[in-house]
Amino acid sequence: MKTINIGMIGTGYVGLTSGACLAHIGHNVICVDNDEAKIKTLLRGEIPFYEPKLDQIVKENVQNGRLKFTTKISEAVKASTVLFIAVGTPPKETGEPDLSYVENVAKEIGEAMTDYKIIVEKSTVPVKTGEWVHETITRYNKRNIPFDVASNPEFLREGSAVGDFLEPDRVVVGVESEKAKQIMLDVYAPINGPVLVTDIKSAELIKHASNAFLSTKISFINAISIICELSGASVEKVAEGMGLDKRIGPSFLQAGVGYGGFCFPKDIMAFIRIAYELGYDYRLLKEVERINEEQKDRFVKKIEGLLWNLREKQIGVLGLAFKPNTDDMRFAPSIDIIAKLTAAGAKVKAYDPHSMDNAKKIITNIEYCNDPYEVVKDCDALAIITEWEEFKKLDLTKIKSLLKLPIVVDGRNIYDPKTMEQMGFIYRSIGR
Ligand code: UDX
Repeated sequence: MKTINIGMIGTGYVGLTSGACLAHIGHNVICVDNDEAKIKTLLRGEIPFYEPKLDQIVKENVQNGRLKFTTKISEAVKASTVLFIAVGTPPKETGEPDLSYVENVAKEIGEAMTDYKIIVEKSTVPVKTGEWVHETITRYNKRNIPFDVASNPEFLREGSAVGDFLEPDRVVVGVESEKAKQIMLDVYAPINGPVLVTDIKSAELIKHASNAFLSTKISFINAISIICELSGASVEKVAEGMGLDKRIGPSFLQAGVGYGGFCFPKDIMAFIRIAYELGYDYRLLKEVERINEEQKDRFVKKIEGLLWNLREKQIGVLGLAFKPNTDDMRFAPSIDIIAKLTAAGAKVKAYDPHSMDNAKKIITNIEYCNDPYEVVKDCDALAIITEWEEFKKLDLTKIKSLLKLPIVVDGRNIYDPKTMEQMGFIYRSIGR
């Protein structure tokens, strides 16, 4: 393989995972972050967030010298041929992404370049951002150094990001020159998986379109779950039957309390705005968002429907993170669900194996417990919001004895309705 010198600007969950994995497959990588404290943490071999396997990969590659960290973009620019922009693109009030961090990085790269570079969009950016990156670098490229811009969107899922990088379904590379194409193919040569080479705009759009489709699939099955509840059908059986059609496939058909995380909600909001700015009203995606909000409302109404009134009731909540195997609370369904419960006068006790430190910064008016059994003690109902493996193995007899009322409302269908009824629980779930 050809060893490429790479700069990764931004060491968030995408930048750090991508940088560490690129070093892991044999390249020389310098990760840059303007947060001095974060760089110090990383240099100690610690990861500032929970992502399985990532700490191991970072440690190994710091030790073998292929992975370095700095706070200076200019240092990475001088040492690298390929520069990935992996900084945040958080939503603005209007829902559109804030691209000012991307612009600042493009400017600093333009100012520091002394020989040919490829500047690669790794962050999720609206289609046509590549034109602005090119324009910005040109404006600050005083030495008139030749460069190319490329797009290389990430498809990493939290909790499996390292595996998703090293064994991807596909690598997407958007380029506009043969030279950039060849170098990007060299970067990904050690990765086994199809590499799709497109123009930059198509590569940028593949990312938003993929997340929009995945969210649509989730809201689709969540809408089906409502029809199943109203008709007495089982959404699990319906999803199983649908999924056997190769054109549909079984994945992303798990009905639940809705999708969260920092990608789907943010990317859907952004994509609706991007389409609107381009002149298209993306009504289908607005409905995907609405269904997702409705799922959380319906979940709270299910709890209320079993307790008559929520005021003064004590509700146990198991699971806060937006999905299992992550500590990420961003746009987690638990935030809105708990807000609705407490707004109705209920008291909430909660536990999550990994995300409580993050949750405490966002959800402040609830009691945090050290284990699931402490949560359920003296509660009028138990609500399951995140399907952590350990919740599937709880001693349900003990749970029932600790609850004031044997009421369980399961937002991720982790228990079997028949078993729960036989054990004497009043049990509700999603679409069953
Ligand atoms: C997602 C995309 O999968 C990934 O390709 C992209 O790069 C980033 O966004 P992520 O948000 O980390 O990844 O998690 P994912 O596993 O996709 O789940 C997102 C949300 O959808 C979670 O809240 C999950 O609970 C929910 N979900 C997922 C469902 O409700 N039902 C499903 O069937 C699948």
